[in-house]
Amino acid sequence: MRTLPLLATLAGCPTCGGSLTAATESLSCTACLQDYPVWGGLPWLFPQAKAYRADWSQRLRFYVQSIDKDLQTLKIEQKIPDLLPATLERLRALIQGKTEQLREVEKLLEDLDVPEDPSYELNALAGTPLPEQLSLLGYYANVLRDWGWGEQENQAAFDTVKSLMGEGSLGLMAVLGSGPSRLAYDLHRAYPGTTTLAIDINPFYLQVAARMLAGKTLYFYDFPMAPRNLKSSAVKVRCKAPEAVTSGFHFLLADVRTPCLKPQSLDTLFTPWLIDVMPEDFRSLASRMNALIKIGGQWINFGSLVFHQPLQSQCYSREEVEAILLEQGFELLAKEEREIPYLLAAHNCQKRYEWIFAFRVRKVREVTPWPQLKDQPTWLEHPEEVIPVWPEMQEQIIFNHTLAVILAQVNGERSLADITELLAPQMGMNSEQTLALLRRVLQRSYATRSRTKSF
Ligand SMILES: C[S@@+](CC[C@H](N)C(=O)[O-])C[C@H]1O[C@@H](n2cnc3c(N)ncnc32)[C@H](O)[C@@H]1O
Repeated sequence: MRTLPLLATLAGCPTCGGSLTAATESLSCTACLQDYPVWGGLPWLFPQAKAYRADWSQRLRFYVQSIDKDLQTLKIEQKIPDLLPATLERLRALIQGKTEQLREVEKLLEDLDVPEDPSYELNALAGTPLPEQLSLLGYYANVLRDWGWGEQENQAAFDTVKSLMGEGSLGLMAVLGSGPSRLAYDLHRAYPGTTTLAIDINPFYLQVAARMLAGKTLYFYDFPMAPRNLKSSAVKVRCKAPEAVTSGFHFLLADVRTPCLKPQSLDTLFTPWLIDVMPEDFRSLASRMNALIKIGGQWINFGSLVFHQPLQSQCYSREEVEAILLEQGFELLAKEEREIPYLLAAHNCQKRYEWIFAFRVRKVREVTPWPQLKDQPTWLEHPEEVIPVWPEMQEQIIFNHTLAVILAQVNGERSLADITELLAPQMGMNSEQTLALLRRVLQRSYATRSRTKSF
């Protein structure tokens, strides 16, 4: 694999920082002897590659189960008497779309080995160590936008980035959070001679991107939130790159929170739509970006500044972002603010525009790493430490305990009156109060029975 020799020179061991050597289908650390495998044609450079793979397998499994559930529900709905012919047609289109979509996603991720155990419910409850907000198809619309919906939006994004650039070259460029990778692809093609390393944590996006760059065609479905008409409920979208890329473009699955690239290794760092979705103070992120770039190298950024940090003091404005860039060893070469179209699906009634801030800065000095505030309590790291009870937890304990007591009585044989009789003495309430409570709790459970989880 051509990417492995590049990584052996560019990356360090994500576990111990040692040097990596490339074999045919893996990288290994010369110091701690850890192996970093290639799965599904992509190198996985995570401290615990197997754990990350298990996490993604689990999310794929949840996704498969949720689509199966949607399909079952749609098939039951088809049997409702007196449906209009047009309603039946719409349900059929949804079933066909979801079925084909599922097949396409499973095919792309067939190397993930979906595990059978442990049980779905327990894992759904516990989640996985991957950041919770990163679901398998969380940025799915970006795939359609990048490769299926046409050029308008991609062109607007590329034009904005291009307006920052001088005549120079990009050299060795890493794209962090590259996703389905259209902007990385456009920049790579606009600057011949560039070596591009597209990095993302999500194997689905990189599998799609790898196929696009190889010139393949994929078909995905668009299920608009607000379909314009019957035919818009499930639209088959052909995804294909304008042309294949034959050289200099590489993919890497890694976590940009603990990037394994060597210090001062990059000529160009590119962060499209990334800096405000990272759960990290931008000051600390900027100091880490600084460390990766050579003196005189550049950092190009494109996207929104909608920070969602828990601390308001870290939800920076554009002016603060500019000040942080100077503080963290950069000088501003160019900046651009624009309103651009955002996820303009042709079949959706609703349209969105985003105000974006793009910048291009040059690294002029080294900085000391900005301290990262730890957002993990110590008892999560040290299993022997006592877990304190915080006020919200106390509330959750009472709530969940009560819910568990009520739900445990639902066994497919008892009525509301039966359960009221059983529980009223335990709950210290009279029958009327208990019945009212049971009604509300079970009604809520019933109403949320088919609420879609995002995976
Ligand atoms: C808002 S999307 C932007 C995608 C793409 N750059 C674009 O312009 O459409 C953020 C991307 O960052 C990736 N990402 C989020 N956290 C990451 C992490 N810790 N390490 C690597 N990639 C991450 C997500 O998987 C996703 O592809």
